[in-house]
Amino acid sequence: MREEIIKALKNNDHISGEELARQLKISRTAIWKHINELRKQGYEIHSSTNYGYKLLKNTDLLIPEEVSLKLETSILGKQIVYRKELTSTQDIASKLAIKGAPEGSIILAEKQTSGRGRKGRPWISPPLGGLYVSIILKPEIKPFNIIQLPLVVGVAVARAIKVVTQLPAAIKWPNDIFIGTKKVAGILAEVKCNMDSVDYAIIGIGVNINTRMDELPLVLRNTSTSLSEAYGQSINRIEFLCRLLSEIETVYSDFVSSGYDPIRNQWRMLDNTIGSTVLVNDGKNEIVGKAIDIDEDGFLLVKTDHGTIKRVISADVSILN
Ligand code: BTN
Repeated sequence: MREEIIKALKNNDHISGEELARQLKISRTAIWKHINELRKQGYEIHSSTNYGYKLLKNTDLLIPEEVSLKLETSILGKQIVYRKELTSTQDIASKLAIKGAPEGSIILAEKQTSGRGRKGRPWISPPLGGLYVSIILKPEIKPFNIIQLPLVVGVAVARAIKVVTQLPAAIKWPNDIFIGTKKVAGILAEVKCNMDSVDYAIIGIGVNINTRMDELPLVLRNTSTSLSEAYGQSINRIEFLCRLLSEIETVYSDFVSSGYDPIRNQWRMLDNTIGSTVLVNDGKNEIVGKAIDIDEDGFLLVKTDHGTIKRVISADVSILN
């Protein structure tokens, strides 16, 4: 119903409560209650006895009705759970996945109090400027191939950034998204598999969109950036989210139907790691070598000074030069 009211407000310079009530077949009091709820969601709506309601300013929040209006996907984002604040979108997503939520359901939050990143690190998630989204996917692939899914999503995130901002987004293996030397987005995959199939994967994506650097802890300020900082003006988060979901839907369906190989080529074109000297830390050992390629399974191939080629699957990689 609120989606209909928003549409009517957008399609008309102004519209009376009586006309809205007639079009939507509800009472004027019900319209008035919805208008007040919309105001609480950040819409600026003026009301006057002569002209009725007039939309003065759209909301800046990731309101599902607004997202749905701009969405061009066929699976992703068809079901949206939205919270102003939560622990982690991954927590809600896994609860919903266990209950059988359909593929493509997304969980969005304005703020996370316990956002998490790869390797148990926190993902600092200040309110309103960032994008924090988890997507429930149910790929019909072999469990072994699930390690490729975050790489696939990395391609989509970099592409969305390029399309919306024209900024030169690049992927640091496996799936950190960088602009220049600074990280702007990260991807976390949490997966439930059985012996021969994948039950579900929850892909969490955090993007510093309009995040101000002073909202991040000091230790992150020199190594992080946001799209608005790099672009020089603020970015419409809903537009970015919708483009991101479209890009993910495209690469994800290619991945499920044709495997990882075609996406590996796209990954290579966006990568900033191959050819660099890297420090690889797998939590136990450190190696230094030259990143020479990504193999058909998604592993990073690193050639050490002794000429040995190591296949790296789960590690922190720092680019040395
Ligand atoms: C990383 O680079 O370490 C991955 C960061 C992933 C952060 C996102 S924000 C949405 C989702 N919810 C979380 O708690 N984490 C992911």
